[in-house]
Formats: sequence, structure tokens, C-alpha cells
Amino acid sequence: MVTNFCLVYSNVVATQLELPGLVPGPVHLVPRASARLAPRPSWVHREELPRNRLVAIDLFAGCGGFSLGLEMAGYAVWAACEVDPFAAYTYRCNFPHVRLFEADIREMTYAQTSWRPPRLDLLVAGLPCQPFSTLNRHRGARDARRWLGLDFLRALDALRPRAFVIENVATYARSHEADQLRHGARDLGYHVGVSILDSVDFGVAQRRRRAFLAGSLGEPVQWPLPSHGGAEEQPHITVAQALAGLPLIPNGHAWHSSRPKVKDSSLVRYRAVPRDGGDRFAMAAHLDADDLGHLVPVCWRGHRRVRTDVFGRMWWDRPAPTIRTEFYKPEKGRYLHPTEDRPITLREGARLQSFPDEFAFPTDMTMNQVARQIGNAVPPLLARAVGTALASALRTRRGRALA
Ligand SMILES: C[S@@+](CC[C@H](N)C(=O)[O-])C[C@H]1O[C@@H](n2cnc3c(N)ncnc32)[C@H](O)[C@@H]1O
Repeated sequence: MVTNFCLVYSNVVATQLELPGLVPGPVHLVPRASARLAPRPSWVHREELPRNRLVAIDLFAGCGGFSLGLEMAGYAVWAACEVDPFAAYTYRCNFPHVRLFEADIREMTYAQTSWRPPRLDLLVAGLPCQPFSTLNRHRGARDARRWLGLDFLRALDALRPRAFVIENVATYARSHEADQLRHGARDLGYHVGVSILDSVDFGVAQRRRRAFLAGSLGEPVQWPLPSHGGAEEQPHITVAQALAGLPLIPNGHAWHSSRPKVKDSSLVRYRAVPRDGGDRFAMAAHLDADDLGHLVPVCWRGHRRVRTDVFGRMWWDRPAPTIRTEFYKPEKGRYLHPTEDRPITLREGARLQSFPDEFAFPTDMTMNQVARQIGNAVPPLLARAVGTALASALRTRRGRALA
């Protein structure tokens, strides 16, 4: 269960535990002495992992969405790598038992023994998506992060897991870089497959199509079957279900806070967007009718086809749109609350990404830093589905190998 794995409460900040074999990266933020940690399951502190637990390493770990999903699916996460100090800080808060290398993956050598678990079943990587995002069409080509897949191949070659998974935006699947990775992994002996999965089909209250490129040393890769949204399945989870129980008026607890210092003119704009749905066109029509047309940004007047979702409200009875890194800004997407005159809070964004409330986002960071970690994450429930599908094949083969 989720709660078994999310053991740090939201008012807790980073701490470093002195665990045997733990090789933490540099700590950039001072840990608070009052940090409260609930007990971890005993297996995570042992050098010898139990035979029945699959072992994973998470590269480009961010705050740990992928890691959390893998833990939910029963994996032991052995190590992780993340270069951003703020994401690493959140990761440490929530996964104090994982060896976190706070480092640039391009500089990793994998020679350290601490990288090497007794066995490695799965290597996962949520490669930075900005170079492949359609929202970043022009800058993407020159973005050096495009080539980080080559560093993933280097890790694959050095660590030789039994399977691997890479996650990225859906357009990544058609990129030259994905082709390069597919060929590189085949040369290393992996069966490689690509699938586009939508989080909404796996119990996440959010439409989020993502490319998954996976490889396996044994049989072809197994993909998860949708659990929600089909005729025979449970219905998609709605915004109302995901946000149930959170106060409508943000109380500031555990990042249930929305953008501060909203200008009066912005508030008038929010109010002009009809409840449950609505978009910038509806807002402009209302403002024009009230003789407040000057509040409609000039750049929106001429553009009817692009960014149609901005300043939209979510619907209570539908899944949310994709939660991106600036989801607390209504000018960036359909991020207004279904009925309240405000954008969604960070905790609401985390819920829509399927993070449990026990997952701690430290409160001594900026809203921008936390929102980026939430928006960048692989939704834990989607990661759990991918991890579970791969686990059944990995377990079967391990069973055969051990027989
Ligand atoms: C899409 S996010 C990963 C999200 C993560 N998988 C999760 O589920 O929470 C990509 C991450 O890669 C990290 N990153 C980017 N360049 C890196 C590098 N050269 N070395 C290590 N990490 C890097 C970014 O800081 C970012 O947190």
C-alpha cells in the first residue's frame, strides 16, 4: 500500500541518515534536526536483498515519482541519480534509504561498488523532456539535454540490468534520439519495445500521454493493460475524486497553497471564466460584456487557434489536463480550479499526479521549484503499472533461472 512507503510527513524536511552502505551526495540544504521519520521496512537497510524482491535503479530521479511507483509495485530501489539539488532534497526526504548520487549523469563512472546491487533487475530513467516537447519546438534542437540518452546507454552497458524503461513525452518516440537509443540497446542484446501510455488509463486523474521505451534481456517487453476507462474497466478518475477531502479554501498545509500576491486584475479575470470548464475565449466574452475588455491581453485577441486551453477551468467530473511544471499559473494551461477563483494549489497538482498526501515536498523551497518537481514526475500510479507488468516477466524468468 502507498502509505507503507510514504513515510515522511509533509512538514518534514531533508535529513541524512547514517545507514550502512549509504553514499549520499553533497547536501546543499541544512537538514532540520526536528525531522521525524517513520520506520522503514527492514529490507531496505540490508546489503543482502531478499530473494523475492526485484531491484531497481532510478536515473534522472527528480523528486521520485518513478521510484515511488516502483516501490508500490514491490521493487527495492537500490540507487538513484539526480543533478538538481532541490529535486535531490525532496528525493532524500522521501527515500532516505536509497543511495542518492546528487551528480551530473555525464560524469558518472559506475565504477563505485555502491552502484552495484547484488543483482539488478530494472534500470529506469525519466529523461528530461524539454528538448522533445512540442511546447519547446524551437529551442529543443539546440538543447544539450537531447543527448542524455547516450549517457543512459553508457549506464546500461555498465550496469547490465535485466530490463530497462525510459519515459518521455509522446513525441520522443518518433525522434532520432529514441531511434539511436533503440539501436544501441539492441546492440547490447535487449529486446526493445515502445508504447505510448496515458496515465488516465491507469487510475491517475489526469490525461498525460507519455512514451515508454523499454528493453528486456529475455522475452519481449510486457506492457500494462489499462485498468480504467474501458467498457470492462473502472471509469476514469475525475478531478472531484482526486481532490476529495482537500479544503476548497487553501489552508497552506503541505503545499495546499496557490499562487500568492494575485493582482486585482487577475482576480477579475479568474472570476470571468465560467465554472466547470470555460477558457480564455469565454473569459474575453464575459469581460467584453462587462465593459472590461481592456483586461483581455492584446496577444490573445488575434490568436484563436493557439494555446486555446489557457485560463481554462478544470471540470469536476472529468480527469485533469496534463499537469506541467508551471501548473500553478493559469496563463500556462487549464489550471484554474473547477469552482474557486484561483489556480489549483501545489498539493492539488500533486494529487492529480497521484502522489499520496504523505509524500513530502519540503516547505523551505520556492513554489516554482516544487511545482517543477511535481510537473516533471512520472505519476506514481502509472510507474506502478509499468513496474508491475515488467515484474511478472522478471519474476517468472528469475523463477526459471533459480529452478
Ligand atoms: C523528467 S524529470 C524526471 C522525473 C522523475 N523520473 C520522477 O518521476 O519524479 C528529469 C530529471 O532529470 C534531471 N537531470 C537533467 N539533467 C541531468 C543530468 N545531466 N544528470 C542527472 N540528472 C539530470 C532533472 O533535474 C530532472 O529532475
